[in-house]
Formats: sequence, C-alpha cells, structure tokens
Amino acid sequence: MTSKRILVIDDEEFIRVNLKDIFTSGKYTVDVANLGKIGLESIKSNHYDLVFLDINLPDMNGIEVLKEIKIIEPDLFVIIITGFASVESAVNAIKLGAYDYIKKPFKADAIKLITKLALETQNLKKKVIELEKKQKERSDISSIIGFSDDIVKLKSYIEQIAKYDSETVLITGESGSGKELVASAIHNLSPRSEKSFVEINCATIPENLLESELFGHEKGAFTNAINKKIGLFEIADGGTLFLDEIGEMSLSLQAKLLRVLENKKIRRLGSTKDIEIDVRIIAATNKDLKIAIENSLFRNDLYYRLNVLRINIPPLRSRGNDIILLAEYFMNIFKKKFSKSVQGFSDEAKSVLLNYNWPGNVRELRNVIERTCILHNEQIIDVEHIAADFIGSTRPLSLKICDDDFDLTQASYEDIVCNIEHKIISKAISISDGNISQAAKLLKIPRETLRYKLSKLNIS
Ligand SMILES: Nc1ncnc2c1ncn2[C@@H]1O[C@H](COP(=O)(O)OP(=O)(O)OP(=O)(O)O)[C@@H](O)[C@H]1O
Ligand SMILES: [Mg+2]
Repeated sequence: MTSKRILVIDDEEFIRVNLKDIFTSGKYTVDVANLGKIGLESIKSNHYDLVFLDINLPDMNGIEVLKEIKIIEPDLFVIIITGFASVESAVNAIKLGAYDYIKKPFKADAIKLITKLALETQNLKKKVIELEKKQKERSDISSIIGFSDDIVKLKSYIEQIAKYDSETVLITGESGSGKELVASAIHNLSPRSEKSFVEINCATIPENLLESELFGHEKGAFTNAINKKIGLFEIADGGTLFLDEIGEMSLSLQAKLLRVLENKKIRRLGSTKDIEIDVRIIAATNKDLKIAIENSLFRNDLYYRLNVLRINIPPLRSRGNDIILLAEYFMNIFKKKFSKSVQGFSDEAKSVLLNYNWPGNVRELRNVIERTCILHNEQIIDVEHIAADFIGSTRPLSLKICDDDFDLTQASYEDIVCNIEHKIISKAISISDGNISQAAKLLKIPRETLRYKLSKLNIS
C-alpha cells in the first residue's frame, strides 16, 4: 500500500512537530508549512490525501486558504485546526467544504481517529464516483434499446467512434429516430464525458441569434448586447457540442463553422481576440444534405468536413421486433410514473404496433405508449387502447388503394369494386397477421361479414 501524504499548515511550530510525531508510522508522509501561501504552493505542486489547516495564520485567513484549496483541488480533504475562540469560523469552514475540524489542544488518539475516518470517507467517495462513472457508461449504451441487426451494429459503431475523441461526427436519420440519444451516448462513452455535452437546435433559433449563441459576444458588440456573453463553443470547451438540424444553418454561418473546425479557434462577436477551443462537434440532420448541396443550401466543403465519421440511424419501421421491445420499455417507464398496473400488450396490439409505419419513429411510439398508459387502466393493452386516432390516420391501408388505374373501356363497376375490396381486405388481414377477428375490428365490420367476403373474394 502506498503511504498517504499529509500536509500540515500551521504557524505554531509545536503543532507542526506534534503532528509529525503522531504520524511516524510508514503509512504516512507528512509535509509542513508555516504560512498559508507556502501551503498553497505545496498543494499546487504535490498530491496530498489530507490537509490539516490552522484557521489563524499570520499571512492569510484560514478561510481564504481553504477557498483557494477548493479551487486548486476541489476534492482534497481538509481538516481545520481551531482554538476555542474560533469554533464559529470552523463551522463556516465546513460549510465551505472542509471535511471536519479539531480543537486545540488535541490528543494523538483524536488526531489518529479523525484521520482514519477522513481517509475511509475519501476512499468510499472515490469508489462511489467510480461506480457512478461505470454505471453512466453502461446506462448510456444500454439506454439505446434494440437487438435488431442494425441497432446492434449501431451500438458497436458508437463504442468505436467514442474512442476517436476529437473527430467530427455526422448523424443522419428521420425525425424522432434517436439522433440526440446517440450523440449523447458518444459523448458519455468518450474521454470527454466529464466535460459538458452542449446541445443546440439550429432550426429553432433565428440566424443572428444563433451566431451569438455559438460564438458569444462582447459588451456593446451590437445594439442589444448589454453584457458580455460566453458562447456555446466556449461552454463546451473540452467536451462536445451537438449541432442539431445542421441542415437549417444559414450559408454564412456555415462558413464560420467551417473556419472553427479548421482552426480550432473562435472569436466572440465584437472582439478582435481569437480564443482556442477544444470541442468535438457532432452534427445531426434529418435532411438529405447532398440534395441541399445541389440546391446551394449547404456548403460542399462543410459537408465533407462534418462527414468524417457518419452514423445513419435506421427508421423505427425497419427494426422489426425492436418496436415491441421499445413499446414494453416505455410501458414500464410510464407504468411507474403514472402508478398503473399494466402488464403487457395483447397479440393483436403487438401486430398493430409492428405493422404501423411510424413516421415519427421512436418519439411517436413513446408518445403513443405514454398516452395509452395515462388513459387506460387495463392489465393488458389491446388494439382499441392504443389505436384511437393513430391507427385510423396513418395506416398504409388507405394510401395504396387510391393509386390504382382502371381502364373503364374494359373493367365493369363490379370489377373495380371487387378489385378494391380484395386489396382492402388482403391488407387488413396482413396487418393483422392473419387474425380474422383483428382484421374485422380494423375494418369495423362484423367478423362473419369478413369471413363471407374472404371466401367470396377467394382470399386465403
Ligand atoms: N433506441 C432507443 N431506445 C430508447 N429510447 C429511444 C431510442 N431511440 C430514441 N429514443 C427516445 O425517443 C425520443 C426521441 O429521440 P431523439 O430525441 O434522440 O430523436 P431525434 O432523432 O433527435 O429527434 P428529432 O429529429 O425530432 O430531433 C427520446 O425520448 C429518446 O430518448
Ligand atoms: Mg433531436
């Protein structure tokens, strides 16, 4: 076991010698400083596990020394040494982040005990931080629900990309497919995870405001710049900046972004000074940037600069059984949130979920399940609980049928009706996975009528 290093900052020689004597065993190394300033210098240049700090020092107030220690090394454990007269200040010191205090005169045993407790607490704290970090890493990749081939590949790609710490990433995918979730997973798995993940949506902020949001501005840089403002590039320094809906960024701002990516420097609006920054850019879009380039709405050079690492998130409709996994995942979340006792989905409900085309992707599924959990109290969620507006409105059933072209010189009215009816019923049966009751429910006709039509139209 490596020995623990302790620093004693006290102007009384007796105290310094006394503490040194107490920690004679090989478990400790003790350094001493007789002034606040000397102590602070030692902390800047060495690693300490524990500091004993006198509250009354000739050159600086102990509280001031403590404040500076907390700036230099916020996690360093500090025990305040205080006389009877300054117990009040010791209490203050604890509020400011000191671990504990001990009154003069003290006994060796009391010092040993307080030291033992402090080091044990420190150890525990370290373990908790490590566990939290591990948990965070795990939950970030495991918070992306899905076992379909595409999602499994996506997750392993995210893990690789996270390691290439400063390369730019471009995430493409339909609205609601999980672009932001993926971006934050990349950040959390990367060595930048302790620093900020800053998100901004380029579509929701007017162009001139977006520029000052990103770059910041000096006081008086423009009419409304009453105070200095730090921009998001600076806030995200050391971390990740997620530029959502990058396809909506104006061409002039695109040029400025390109410059930042190339020079790794920014300049606040109204300033003449460059500021170096170290930020990983992750951009996302649900637009086809190639088309935007053809239409002169997106810069070709920026596209290639962003597109170093590319992730395309598949739409929910192509993820097969992941739809059910996600539905169950959201059901468990909302069941707890709204204190419901729902247990699962009926087979018919699952089939409806699987066959819907989910234009709003995972976000839409989440909303559907949330609403279902709020509105219903059944143990098993059935078609009528989830269906309501969402099944009737966007199912592919009605869309396909209108496309047909009939040659009226050949086909009779009867032929056309039969043809359309065949299509409607076949589609309903396929959406319902061959379940006749379910198809009848969807078409809102009695089951017997459907059976009759199936045999008349020769649909198996
Ligand atoms: N695979 C997934 N597992 C669990 N939750 C997911 C998954 N994909 C997306 N979500 C959730 O779905 C919602 C929408 O995801 P997100 O905001 O990341 O999508 P987006 O692509 O950024 O959407 P938009 O294009 O509208 O900005 C969020 O609540 C997110 O947590
Ligand atoms: Mg988003």
